[in-house]
Order: sequence, then structure tokens, then C-alpha cells
Amino acid sequence: MATKEELEKWDRAHLVHSLQPTGVEPSITFVGTKEGSNVTLVDINGKEYFDLGSQVVDVNLGHGQKEIIDAVAQQVGKIQHIVTLFAFSNPATVECAYRLAQLVPQGLGHFLFASGGSEATETAMKTARAYWQLKGTNKRIIISLWNSYHGMTLGSMSATGINMMWAGGGPAVDFEHVPGYYCYRCLLGEEYPSCNMSCVKNLENTIVGLGPDNVAALIAEPVQGVGGSIAPPPEWWPMVRDICTKHDVLLIADEVMSGFCRTGKMFAVENWNIKPDMMTMAKGITSGYIPFAALALNDEIWNFFKDKYFPAGGFTYSGHPVGAAAAIAAMNMYVRDKVCDNVAKVGKHVRERLEKEFLPLPHIGAIHGLGLFLSAELVTDKKTKGIPPLAATEELIRRGRERGLLFRCAVGNNIQITPPLISTVEEVDGALDILLSLVKDFGSCLKAV
Ligand SMILES: Cc1ncc(COP(=O)(O)O)c(C=O)c1O
Repeated sequence: MATKEELEKWDRAHLVHSLQPTGVEPSITFVGTKEGSNVTLVDINGKEYFDLGSQVVDVNLGHGQKEIIDAVAQQVGKIQHIVTLFAFSNPATVECAYRLAQLVPQGLGHFLFASGGSEATETAMKTARAYWQLKGTNKRIIISLWNSYHGMTLGSMSATGINMMWAGGGPAVDFEHVPGYYCYRCLLGEEYPSCNMSCVKNLENTIVGLGPDNVAALIAEPVQGVGGSIAPPPEWWPMVRDICTKHDVLLIADEVMSGFCRTGKMFAVENWNIKPDMMTMAKGITSGYIPFAALALNDEIWNFFKDKYFPAGGFTYSGHPVGAAAAIAAMNMYVRDKVCDNVAKVGKHVRERLEKEFLPLPHIGAIHGLGLFLSAELVTDKKTKGIPPLAATEELIRRGRERGLLFRCAVGNNIQITPPLISTVEEVDGALDILLSLVKDFGSCLKAV
């Protein structure tokens, strides 16, 4: 076992941390979970931290859940890897597909598995293009929203509407971005509800302008995650569903972050009773314990490919049995432990505290989100809605870590409040108390930079 000093030295010399400069001193080395807790991590020095971000909004069921750990260990003991390419199967992956089919909205019960969210969204977009190409059309353009996040691979990055994620030179051709539903910072300069949903009209105009014969799909998150836990107004998804149907544009709901009870429903699209044509899932599918992801296809797409080779996906690790076993165990817990009900209860309490205690503070401009997919937006000034410099929010994060609280600021200034979904009111209250005192003093972070 390496010493603490060796680990720090090797980390700095050999490990690339994304979204960080290379070679910096590793801030925290986690080694385990606090005895008896599923929400508190312990670092190499024995210091404890409440995981208010659930890592990157994936450890939905909290850390150290024995049921998932045992399922993984047992599966590794039985069969380690069988591909799902060609006509190969294994019991865990087949059962995982069957179990997922019971959870997703009806008509979406066919799954292609992958190892992470980016692979799932990439595969969804490739499937959409292949579907239309094989139908003899030229529909190929993918539309997505500004402020969206769909992943780090070239295609998923191209769909992403946050330009700081466009490493190496921006989106590929045939990707088009439109204003989304971030009403607090409406790109069309409108105000909800007097806007009469002009963003949706703008989306339709874009489809018509590009020519519906050229547009393959719209991909959107039911709630924008990396963009700051931004939930749409209630009309948005039903109106967008209708427009996609009207113009023969496939609708891909990217549920990578919002799925598995995060918003208080098993899948966030259930909040508006809409049915996408494809749906991506990852993160919470195994509560982050094993890399695993899924793309759900509707009956129409599944039937279309019945007499053809399925052209997209096909990764070595698609449907990995160990990931599938973890997903089955996680699904058991979501359903049996009524995790969505806990999210509704704890989420309501957190929201009330955010509105009552955080929103009146001079540097909180808005509270966003649904369920336990929430955020408090930091501003320099409520009137101007000025975005604080990154260095100030980084200072806030650093102070949080000092006090044993782990959180992120999405797109720089939205403090994401996305605790594990099994958190109790008492646990989140402790975290919110610390956060409140930090935010009250945010003025000093601004002065310090
Ligand atoms: C909505 C959404 N789609 C896709 C991704 C990419 O997933 P991954 O990081 O597993 O590749 C993410 C990751 O945060 C996400 O939030």
C-alpha cells in the first residue's frame, strides 16, 4: 500500500484531472465512507465531507450501499465479460433490459447499452441519422439547446450548448443550437409567462428555416444539469413534443442526469407526461458504482431495424454483465425503497429553505430546479444579474471543502444542490446550514479575488 506522500507525488506527476490544470496538487484523496453513513466521504487524513453534489450527480443512492457492492462481487465471480455484439447474451444483461423496460415510459422498452452518458447520447444521435438515411431521406441535422450538456465525445460535445466545453474548436457540422428554457437569462430577452413561449416558436422557426427534410432530431435534457439545474416552464416539453411530431423530427430526451428519481419521478419526462422517441440514461442507473449507460428506443425505431443490421453503438463494453448486475441492484433499491417519494419530501423541504433563507441574500439571484435537482444562482448584484468571476466561486468551493462540504458551481455560478437521493431531512439540513453561512459571506469571496 502506497503512503500518503507517494500517492500525492504520483498523482501530481502522472494523473490528468479533467477540468483542472495538469500537475496541480491533488486537493482531496478520498479513501472511504464514514461508518454508518451513505452521504459522508472520508479523505486520506480522516477528514469527513458531506457529498452535496452526489459526485457529479450520479451517486443517487449514496456511497457504500452493500446491496450494489455484493451484486457486483457476485457477478464478477460468475462471468466477467460477455459482449452484446452479435448474438451473444448473458443473464444479467438480459434481465437488466427486462427490468428497465418495466421502469421507462411505455413504448420505450428496447435498450442498447453503453459505458457512459456520452456514449449513450452519441449513439442516440447516430441512430437518428441512420434511421432517416435508411429511409432514403437527407434528414441529418441535430438541434440542441444553448446551455445544454450532452457529453465530451465529438458528437455529444457538438450537441452541447456550453461553449466552454468545446475543446479544440467548436461543434462539428450539422449541429444547430437554439435558445432553451433558462428563463432567468432568456436569450430572446423575454420574460415568462408574458413571452408566450417564444423560445418554442423560435425552435419551430429554426426547423422550418433549416427545412424539416434536413433535420434528424432534437436532443434536450428534461432539466439542464451542467447548465445549472434549470427546469423548463410546464408548457415547454409538451409543446416541443408536438412540434417534433409535426415536423417528423425525432425527440431524444437526455435523462443521463435527470433519470432515476433525481426530480422525484423515475424519469424526468414523467413530470410532463411526454414520451420521447429515444431516451438516454447513465449515472444513477448504477448509482455511479460501475460505468454503465443505456439508450432506450421506441417501438417504431426498434421495429424499423428488425430486418437490418443495427448500425450504431457496438462498443466492446456495451451491456457489460457487471454493470448490468449493478443496475439491477440499483433498480431494486429505487423501487423497493420508494426513493422518488423521499426526493419529493426532502426536495420540498430543501426548496422551501432555499426560497426562504437563501433567495433574500444579496448574492443569490434565483433558485432553480425540481426535486433534488436544485441550484442557487450566485450573482454579483441582483439587479444587474452580474455573473461573479470564476475565482470567487472557486474560493467559495474551497471554503466549503474546508468545512467538510463538497459542492460544484455549474457553469461557474449556480451552486448545485443535488445530494444523494436517500438523504434525510436532518442530513441535508446540516449541509444547508454550512452552505448558508458560506453564501452569506460570498461578498468576501468577491473581494478576495
Ligand atoms: C445530460 C447529460 N448527458 C450526457 C452526459 C455525459 O455523461 P458521461 O460523463 O457519463 O459521459 C452528462 C454528464 O454530466 C449529462 O449530464
